[in-house]
Amino acid sequence: MAVEIYISEDQIKNKITELAYRINEDFSGQELVVICVLNGAFMFCADLLREITLPVTMEFIKASSYISGTQSSGEIKFEVDVKKNLAGKNVLIIEDIVDTGLTITKIMEKLKTHVPAKIKLASLLFKPSRNIHPVKIDYLGFEIQDKFVIGFGLDYDGRFRELPYIGIFDED
Ligand code: IMP
Ligand code: MG
Repeated sequence: MAVEIYISEDQIKNKITELAYRINEDFSGQELVVICVLNGAFMFCADLLREITLPVTMEFIKASSYISGTQSSGEIKFEVDVKKNLAGKNVLIIEDIVDTGLTITKIMEKLKTHVPAKIKLASLLFKPSRNIHPVKIDYLGFEIQDKFVIGFGLDYDGRFRELPYIGIFDED
């Protein structure tokens, strides 16, 4: 088993500083409700928040695909949901990766039913080659190739979330 570094710790740090700067500018003078999409976004969210200078409150949401056999049914279920009503709030969703886009599309549909004032999306990674459900990523870290990546919150079978960089997992 080997892990090849794909996006280094420094590259991630610099990108997070850049995204935080834009968020601080875009929401200047306003309050923000940050919604961390569990589990994968926890590390990105924690690092990004440390550079946000706005008044922030936090919520968590967790969605998972229903799997029948090895196929995703295209339906998702919510295992953790936001506790607060988001009506009239500025909402920033923080996700680890947008792959097919199904998960984030369903999460956004659900959050929009609260009728927030604004709803924006930050995602550390985006795999355009696999995207089926188009979604606007307002604050994107990195566009990546069609590779399975791990680290910085992302897992393979529950492992490798603790790595401080994004790596490519090779089972050999
Ligand atoms: P989507 O619904 O297809 O966009 O998939 C989103 C979820 O699949 C992400 O939130 C991740 O948890 C997981 N995922 C997709 N691609 C990867 C990857 O390369 N590494 C680790 N997890 C991934
Ligand atoms: Mg995820």
